[in-house]
Amino acid sequence: MQYHTLIRNASIIDGSNRPAYLADVAIVDGRIARIGDVQGARAEEEIDAAGRVLAPGFIDVHTHDDTVVIRQPQLLPKLSQGVTTVIVGNCGISASPVSLRGAPPDPMNLLGTAAAFVYPRFSDYRAAVQAAQPCLNVAALVGHTALRSNHLDDLSRTATPDEISAMRGQLRESLEAGALGLSTGLAYASAFNASTDEVQQLAEELAAFGAVYTTHLRSEFEPVLEAMDEAFRIARHASSPVIISHLKCAGAGNWGRSPQLLASLEQAAHTQAVACDCYPYAASSSTLDLKQVTDAHRITITWSTPHPEVSGRDLLDIAAQWDVPLLDAARRLQPAGAVYYGMDEADVRRILAHPLSMIGSDGLPEDPFPHPRLWGAFPRVLGHFSRDLGLFPLHTAVHKMTGLSAARFGLQQRGEIREGFWADLVLFDPLRVRDVADFTDPQRSAEGIDGVWVNGVRSYVDGQANGARAGRFLPREGDLRVGFSRP
Ligand code: ZN
Ligand code: CU
Repeated sequence: MQYHTLIRNASIIDGSNRPAYLADVAIVDGRIARIGDVQGARAEEEIDAAGRVLAPGFIDVHTHDDTVVIRQPQLLPKLSQGVTTVIVGNCGISASPVSLRGAPPDPMNLLGTAAAFVYPRFSDYRAAVQAAQPCLNVAALVGHTALRSNHLDDLSRTATPDEISAMRGQLRESLEAGALGLSTGLAYASAFNASTDEVQQLAEELAAFGAVYTTHLRSEFEPVLEAMDEAFRIARHASSPVIISHLKCAGAGNWGRSPQLLASLEQAAHTQAVACDCYPYAASSSTLDLKQVTDAHRITITWSTPHPEVSGRDLLDIAAQWDVPLLDAARRLQPAGAVYYGMDEADVRRILAHPLSMIGSDGLPEDPFPHPRLWGAFPRVLGHFSRDLGLFPLHTAVHKMTGLSAARFGLQQRGEIREGFWADLVLFDPLRVRDVADFTDPQRSAEGIDGVWVNGVRSYVDGQANGARAGRFLPREGDLRVGFSRP
């Protein structure tokens, strides 16, 4: 048998949460053709992987890479971590379907300037991704706030029945064109006043497609349990699965409550399809939100339109230099981005380790001084949390970023190393893998990622991208509810 690629002697972590085993893997026509002993076989390219782990390519279930996959299709921050699929359109904001009447409202501005929003229909976005040929696979959600910005003249109120039916029409058309589901960002001012009923009515569109509801909760602070209940209620009403985005206990007054949150998630899991994603850091990042300005923990400014020179500096320092209160400084910096050091490490670890949690970076690729999760989330889970701290075995770390994620989002024949599956693969050194990006120097490639294959095409070799661009747009396939019944 002549194969395209043979990866020999790898320690296979197959993504199913099973421990590693030794085998050779052969690739033909973009797929895993054979796993096992392939002595005597030949291939155009042969790699000796002794001492290294071969895992399914990582699936970044929570990204804001919507427009960057088109404008910078080499996607080095993700490829260099071993990511082979990104899910875009989270937190209520998506590049499509969008028709702007001016500047993108907060937080849609995280995805780019008005010039980046040129996809009035989901099918336009899908075609643009295909035409851009990104280096990794892209699947997309539709953002509730994006729909609101299309149809509401004022985002600080709930939608009228006519506006809701217009939004439903756009959501339905997007789902027909392959969207995975609906995301919300109910904590943001641009969606906060949308009633539960508004979201429920939109979510009614999901069931017919077996699509998913994902949500940046209405609050991640003190009322977080009530916000989780609202999410569960919306999903039950819609008969759809729900994924809580970047589950966390935000704000010093909320620290130590992760056991309550996880108990609530487990409780819901008895009667409905639920999951969550999280990123492996005790600091969050988004646009600078005046409601989150506090002196209870550190806040750094990552960008500011009127004051680009302050990028990377503490809000406290800026306020001191200007000799104004924190809130006044924050007002002057708007629009701006920030990192908030507002979580407790013990909560982060508990949520990360929970069997219902998947890994998503929530990285912000447009940010000139981004939170290090953009470049480091996946290697940090493998190196820091699994190997160095022993929070969970390496095969569980891999499962949380591959098999579990593919099942929950219905990514067919991906997320596991199995014969017949797509050859989305990452080869890494389990002793060396680590995140290098940190809060002071956030744009650095991880160490220990030796190779990445996307749809069978080697795209990252010995710590360097080779320019291959083999990614595809992945439309929703089948009923996503099916993937929630598997452990
Ligand atoms: Zn979010
Ligand atoms: Cu997000």
